[in-house]
Amino acid sequence: MTKSSTSRYICSECGAISAIRTGKCNVCGSWGSIIQDMNQEKAVYENETNSITIRSIDVVPPERIKSGMNELDRVLGGGWVPGGVTLLGGQPGIGKSTLLLQTAGLMAQTGTRVLYISGEESASQVALRARRLGADSEMLDLFCGTNLEKAVSEVNARNIGFFVLDSVQAMRAPDEPGWAGTPNQVRAVAQFVIDVAKNRNVPAVLVGHITKEGRLAGPMLLEHMVDTVLLFTGEGYSSYRMLRAQKNRYGTTDELGIFEMGERGLAPVDDKSALYWNRVDTLVPGVSMTVALEGSVPLIAEIQTLCTATTFSYPRRTTRGIDVNKLHLLSAVVEKRASIPCANYDIYLNIAGGLSIQDPSADLAACAALASAAIGAPLPPDCCFLGEVGLAGEVRPVTRIGLRLREAVRLGFTQAVISSREKNDEIPLGINIFRAKNLIDVIKEFIQYQTK
Ligand code: TYD
Ligand code: MG
Repeated sequence: MTKSSTSRYICSECGAISAIRTGKCNVCGSWGSIIQDMNQEKAVYENETNSITIRSIDVVPPERIKSGMNELDRVLGGGWVPGGVTLLGGQPGIGKSTLLLQTAGLMAQTGTRVLYISGEESASQVALRARRLGADSEMLDLFCGTNLEKAVSEVNARNIGFFVLDSVQAMRAPDEPGWAGTPNQVRAVAQFVIDVAKNRNVPAVLVGHITKEGRLAGPMLLEHMVDTVLLFTGEGYSSYRMLRAQKNRYGTTDELGIFEMGERGLAPVDDKSALYWNRVDTLVPGVSMTVALEGSVPLIAEIQTLCTATTFSYPRRTTRGIDVNKLHLLSAVVEKRASIPCANYDIYLNIAGGLSIQDPSADLAACAALASAAIGAPLPPDCCFLGEVGLAGEVRPVTRIGLRLREAVRLGFTQAVISSREKNDEIPLGINIFRAKNLIDVIKEFIQYQTK
């Protein structure tokens, strides 16, 4: 008997192909993920087209369906896209079901027929929560159970305009072997939902759990299959929740949505700067302000630095909210270019309020805080610092200076230090501008320190 020469195996985690079935994938190292590849027959190209000039294509921006929550719409890039499938990931208990039940209710209240499929909770649990959230409506249908085919047949039967599947790990595709939540099943469930959404041209959301390592549970392929991946995060001790897009085929991935979890569900946080910024009353050396950008959201950030004489042969450099290598680099620049000795200090640098900054526009504020701490003279409290600092000690322009300065004006800052090369046309009224060429300009003006 000849062995079928075409049988091959595929890793459901990473997609690696092998000729033999092994217990562990040689490529990604995951166990028990190798399955027989059923889709290996030669592909039939039905709708084959030839290449065309890009200019000749009519561009229609995707239609958007509002979620009823501005904060969510902004992260999505304007709203749900018909036929688009979004995966919402987050730790258990973070509020994924709450967020989706709220948007489902709001959409239903504006006349869209919505189906909420829950494989995790009972009908009365979901209904009770919907009532508490003010999300119940004539147009909101609920399916509780784990049979995917039955759930999805409801989408077709009831002429649904938007549906949520909570969660991709709890549902089971009857035609596929394995327990619910296994890589195979998760892939089959997601593919089924994607097909339904595309065929009916309605938006759909899949809820996905996150593993302890912070990865979406299930096959890695899941993230490639869907159009958008949203991550819902938050600290255990805080009632604030952040929503970010990790992947977005229809928009950017750098918007940040902030919600507060309360008695009646999630409410948008409109004044985001207030969240991170508690104005310090006393003038303390080592504290400076900047305006960081999260997507298009400007946030006031307070940088705090502490310098103490070191007792170690290698001085300590510790940071929170900013990369420690950034502190190594900036302290070297401050020492060399502004002649302020830092080498004999242990330096601690924090972004207050739990914000995390990658934006280079905070360089100048960090250098100012560092110099202020090293010299022991405070900075003016109503002044913010906006600039990238280069290795030559030069102050460089930042992106969207106008937007940042307007936020500073709104919050009552009267002075801003920016790069001398920043263009004039974006500068708003109502704030004194100090243009700095390099670090020494800033230190001479604000810390009254005579450099050699
Ligand atoms: P949930 O949406 O069930 O989280 P997930 O689906 O991500 O697992 O919400 C979990 C927590 O949110 C729950 O422990 C209680 C809290 N919560 C509130 O504080 N207020 C509310 O109105 C609701 C519905 C939940
Ligand atoms: Mg849930």
